[in-house]
Parts: sequence; structure tokens; C-alpha cells
Amino acid sequence: MKAAAHTIYGPPEVTSIREVAKPIIRPDEILIRVRATTVNRTDCGFRSAQYFVSRFFSGLFRPKNGILGCEFAGEVVEIGDAVADFRVGDRVFGYDDNAFGGHAEFKAMTAKGAIAIIPDEMDYMVAAALTEGSHYALCNIRSAKIKAGDIAMAYGASGAIGSAAVQLLKYFGAYVVAVVGTQHVELARSLGADEVIDYMTQDFRETPHRFDFIFDAVGKRSFGQCRPLLKPRGVYISTELGKRSENIFLALTTPLWKGKRVLFPLPVARKEDINLIKELAETGQFRPVIDREYPLEDIVEAYRYVETGQKVGNVVIRIGE
Ligand SMILES: NC(=O)c1ccc[n+]([C@@H]2O[C@H](COP(=O)([O-])OP(=O)(O)OC[C@H]3O[C@@H](n4cnc5c(N)ncnc54)[C@H](OP(=O)(O)O)[C@@H]3O)[C@@H](O)[C@H]2O)c1
Repeated sequence: MKAAAHTIYGPPEVTSIREVAKPIIRPDEILIRVRATTVNRTDCGFRSAQYFVSRFFSGLFRPKNGILGCEFAGEVVEIGDAVADFRVGDRVFGYDDNAFGGHAEFKAMTAKGAIAIIPDEMDYMVAAALTEGSHYALCNIRSAKIKAGDIAMAYGASGAIGSAAVQLLKYFGAYVVAVVGTQHVELARSLGADEVIDYMTQDFRETPHRFDFIFDAVGKRSFGQCRPLLKPRGVYISTELGKRSENIFLALTTPLWKGKRVLFPLPVARKEDINLIKELAETGQFRPVIDREYPLEDIVEAYRYVETGQKVGNVVIRIGE
């Protein structure tokens, strides 16, 4: 089968299109003909191994599995003997940041994993983008224990995680202040933000609100900058480690006092979460924002674009016709 693969860590150019063996499924797995996938920041992180810690999962010196792609959508073409929940021909989407493998014509996936049937009427290109941003957003919102009536800031609401966070915070009943650049103000409103701050013309710290939760979805603002905006027991979460990797240390120490806290939850992909996203997509409460589409053959270009840090929502990869 055709796949985008890399055998060393490095820049986008370490990836190339190759012929590789089609996966052989175990009894608890299904085989999916992948129709669409994405290039996202998780893929970029594992390909570059910029954060050394990722190598403990993907291979210390060389990638163990060089086919990335944690999001996928496609059709089931084979099922293992022990699989009861899926049938050949089912249209499925899902998330797998353990084995990855979405950047290929076929992917094996455990049927008990974070996978579900694609909502009716939704095409593969949209379904592929349902999961990565929402996965991180949901894990962080759950850790912050957001409830109806809370006030939350989604900083960087134009990225994959931020655009998902605005919609999920609204689903949990929060009042949402989104922070984006001028060109994304309308987008943030369309996602349901109650207020939008344009970081290019306003200082977000001048907001009159005090927040239960500040979610820096693009990792651009420190706890120190956000602290004065938090309520006495408010929570700050960033998707990045911080300039001096301080967010890990702060997440270990600030919860010891009964004050403003930093959390750094480890995200876990769960089937219940995929089912929730599916339900919200079906009821129109969640939609992935899609920026650009590329064919698999142009995946290096897609990586280069994602690594500009300028994408709006998600970058989708088409596989086959
Ligand atoms: N911890 C993990 O495992 C993990 C996994 C995935 C992603 N991440 C991190 O999560 C972050 C978000 O990823 P993502 O894919 O959602 O989005 P992304 O690609 O990093 O973000 C793109 C968006 O951020 C906006 N942006 C850039 N600078 C900004 C600023 N100073 N203030 C507000 N918005 C700004 C850009 O719009 P404009 O510049 O046009 O305003 C663009 O629309 C990344 O830093 C990524 O590395 C972490």
C-alpha cells in the first residue's frame, strides 16, 4: 500500500511517499481503507521529536513506526474474529495517537479504541478533522471541571484545539471569551464565543472579567500573565510546556495551595469522548474548522504549512480519489 513515512526524526522533508506492507489485523482489530486524514501539531511533534520526551513513546533513536496520522476517516474493509461492533462497509472516523498510521491507504485499529461511525451526510474530509483538536480541548476542559455558568477564556481560538475548545466550553455551559487575531474574529463568533478579543488591537489583560478557567490553546501566554485574570480558585492550562518548561513544575506545585492553579493533564483518548463528539456533530453543536486540503502526495507541503503556526483549524489530507 501507499503511505507517507519517515525513518529518521527531522523536518517535513524526512517524510516521503513509499510502498509499504498493508497491516495485518489481530482478532480485536478492524482494517480501514483510509479516505482522509490530517496533518496536525501532534504529527509534527512526533515527526520532529522536538520535545525529546516524545521519543520515549515513538523510539529513542529512530521512529519505531514511521507512519504518522493520528486522525483518520474511511471505510471498514476487514474485521477481526473477535469484533462485534463494526461491519465491513461501515464508514468510520477516529483518533489513535498510540499507533498512528492514518497517513496510509490502510490502517489497523482496535475496535475498542477511539473510533465511531461517521454521522450520516458527513463526508470523509470533514470526519477526519473531528478528533485531534477536540481530544485535547475536551481533556483539558474536563480537568478544569467546567460547569454551567463558569466563565472561561479560550486563548488562540483559531487553532485546531482552540476552535474546538470554544464549541466544547459552550456545550458545558460556560460563558466564553475567545482571543484571536483580527482576521479570525468572525470565525470565533461563528463558533459561539460570547465575547471576542482581537489580540492584535487589544491587550487581553484589560478584560474586566475574572475567569474560572483560562485555556491557552496555542501556548503563547504564561501563567504569570494570566494569573491576575483568574478567580481565587481559577485554573490555567496551556497546550505548551512554557518558555522554560515551567508549566510542569507549576502543575506539580500550585495545586498544593488553595489558590490559583496550573494543571497539565495527560490527555487520554477514550471511546466515550469520540461518541460525544459524534453526537455533538450530529446535533450541530460541533464542527471542525477546515483550512486547507492536500492530496497525500503533497504531505510535505502540508507539514510545512502546519508548522508556520498559521493554520486556521485543521489541515486535511485526501487519500485516493
Ligand atoms: N501537548 C501536546 O501534546 C500538543 C499536541 C498538539 C498540539 N499542541 C500544541 O498546541 C498548540 C495549538 O495547536 P493547534 O493545532 O490547535 O493550533 P496551531 O497550529 O498551533 O495554531 C494556529 C493558530 O494560532 C493562532 N495564533 C498564533 N499566534 C497567536 C497568538 N499570539 N495569539 C492568539 N492566536 C495566535 C494563529 O492565528 P494568527 O496567527 O493568524 O492569529 C493560527 O490560527 C500548539 O502550540 C501545539 O504545539 C500540543
